[in-house]
Amino acid sequence: MPILPTLTARRSAALSGVTRAPGDKSISHRALILGSMATGVTGITGLLEGDDVLATARAVEAFGAGVERLGEGRWRITGRGGFKQPDRVIDCGNAGTGVRLLMGAAAGYPVTATFDGDASLRQRPMKRVARPLSDMGARFGWRGEEDRLPVELTGGSLSAIDHVQTVASAQIKSAILLAGVNAQGVTTVTEPVRSRDHTERMLRAFGAEVAVRPAGDGWTVTLNGGQALTGATVEVPGDPSSAAFPLAAGLIVPGSMVTVEAVMLNPLRTGLFETWREMGADLTVANRRMAGGEEIGDVTARHSTLRGVIVPPERAASMIDEYPVLAATAAFAEGATVMRGIGEMRVKESDRIALMVAGLRSCGVEVEEEPEGFTVAGGSVRGGAMGTTHGDHRIAMSLLVLGLAADQPVSVDEPGMIATSFPGFVELMRGLGADIAASE
Ligand code: S3P
Repeated sequence: MPILPTLTARRSAALSGVTRAPGDKSISHRALILGSMATGVTGITGLLEGDDVLATARAVEAFGAGVERLGEGRWRITGRGGFKQPDRVIDCGNAGTGVRLLMGAAAGYPVTATFDGDASLRQRPMKRVARPLSDMGARFGWRGEEDRLPVELTGGSLSAIDHVQTVASAQIKSAILLAGVNAQGVTTVTEPVRSRDHTERMLRAFGAEVAVRPAGDGWTVTLNGGQALTGATVEVPGDPSSAAFPLAAGLIVPGSMVTVEAVMLNPLRTGLFETWREMGADLTVANRRMAGGEEIGDVTARHSTLRGVIVPPERAASMIDEYPVLAATAAFAEGATVMRGIGEMRVKESDRIALMVAGLRSCGVEVEEEPEGFTVAGGSVRGGAMGTTHGDHRIAMSLLVLGLAADQPVSVDEPGMIATSFPGFVELMRGLGADIAASE
């Protein structure tokens, strides 16, 4: 067996600089998928060229779309007005969003396709989308264990459903809406808590009518089946979930000031920023403007004295991918940070509660684990540990950020997986002055 390199982050001098986060992962997947469902050309700029999104690009090509890379982040998708029968297995790599949205889209067409993924994706639940898509008329044949990839999907002749979400999940909502585009009747999805609305916004940009009305704290999204989608232009904004890492480093490394430009500020994605402000973070936004149908802005983080907070559980959907990095910053706060109502974290790329609890404890941080949450007691961070990531990009980046302000170095295994969402992470962080390097 070759010795896999690891990455090590060491206590760093003040970080400073102005940088940009890679393109938003959620919007990148959707641009490729909607472009391939549409008729005509979709021009994309700022596409995230991470492994997850590249897997989706290969998938839509297998479903018959023309896929061309014109330059860095510049892609042209030529949609043929629907998915064609693929001649290969649809391998979605590590991407939960990719596979679930692609299954939703494919369900609307008369095709049979086998979906698969890497070892992590093969452990993640798929019935959450297979069940509603089956209710619409799609057929699923589990190739191994039920509820897990690989699975064979046969689509076509769908009927609309009225779906009430029990899990707050934009992926489930999006899969149903994408199937609903080609279903007979009116598809509705009701969410008790609002999740990211990129699919709804992008469907409109591609010419579909999508109605939204409030329902309690959530909303009901309605879509008529049989609407034609037309190719559009998509400008992908910077990913707030990736911007979170350099900004977190700016908050915890003494003397730092870090700016990330052109970060998407969709309020359904900025729960972390709100939480950091409640913790006393010096986090400012300048130059708010619109780009690609989303508000963006330049976000600056200055080193701050943070205090622990109780994060409201109803905020979870707007920051579900950000709890690992929040936990890393909470470890340096005065007092405890309580994070609850986040059982969904256990079925992401890894069990993120278990891995953050283990990683923080190995660095000398006091943490209390609960079935659906965890509490981090703030203070100083000893470090001096090797974090296990189970190939989870966000766990790796969160522990590396922790190491930049810990007393002793923090290392992580499987750092290659960072490229699923944040290619160039190490170079970007080093450019700000972070001491992160490959190690044995
Ligand atoms: C995503 C939704 C979230 C998030 C994922 C991206 C999306 O998943 O964790 O990284 O693009 O719709 P869930 O919808 O399963 O919560």
